Amino acid sequence: PVQPPRPADLLAWYDRHARVLPWRTPPAKRRAGVRPDPYRVWLSEIMLQQTNVTTVKPYFEAFLARWPTVGDLAAAPTEDVMKAWAGLGYYSRARNLKACADAVVRDHGGRFPESAAGLRELPGIGAYTSAAIASIAHDEPAAVVDGNVERVLSRIFAIETPLPAAKKEIGALQAQLTPLERAGDYAQAMMDLGATLCTPKRPACSLCPWETACVAHARGTEERYPRKAEK
Ligand code: ADE
Repeated sequence: PVQPPRPADLLAWYDRHARVLPWRTPPAKRRAGVRPDPYRVWLSEIMLQQTNVTTVKPYFEAFLARWPTVGDLAAAPTEDVMKAWAGLGYYSRARNLKACADAVVRDHGGRFPESAAGLRELPGIGAYTSAAIASIAHDEPAAVVDGNVERVLSRIFAIETPLPAAKKEIGALQAQLTPLERAGDYAQAMMDLGATLCTPKRPACSLCPWETACVAHARGTEERYPRKAEK
């Protein structure tokens, strides 16, 4: 007999345990209503697409120091950006990064579109990245689904459909759960929960704010999720 997962419980956990990361607005500032800079959110989300947090941190700091605004990045020679990206891998991201900065300056007067739909038109920005930027930078209640969210929700609801077929169902659940307020904190709380407690192996369920809402945990089967299609 599990209870429904309450976003408020996850947000209360995030208020105490959010990872301190250079692209995040510190909690005190957030409480004072300070919004994160969309350029920082965009840059971090592109870097984090295929690279882990530890590797990204120094690159993020170096890019920001060298190109503090999207206009500075657009004005930079592509070759400089490619060189600064070296080591992060997946170089199409760097080419798209430059193309996106150029488009923001050329087509949007140097300001990122605010909505997920508007962001999605830009080079290198797909479903995940547009939702992440719109929620984190503007609290648009867009459903953010990455690998962490897939794992957390497939356990909470003991989803038997294997990935990738389960993506649609998981997206619908995430859309229902995403709160109308603090959507950006909610999305990042899901990422932190997946990265620190609801890990692929040996999840730390006793520390989880959704322990009593998790169907897989109630059955002792959390490590079996997410189910994956056989190769
Ligand atoms: N991975 C992708 N985006 C992230 C974010 N905003 N915070 C932590 N990990 C992430």
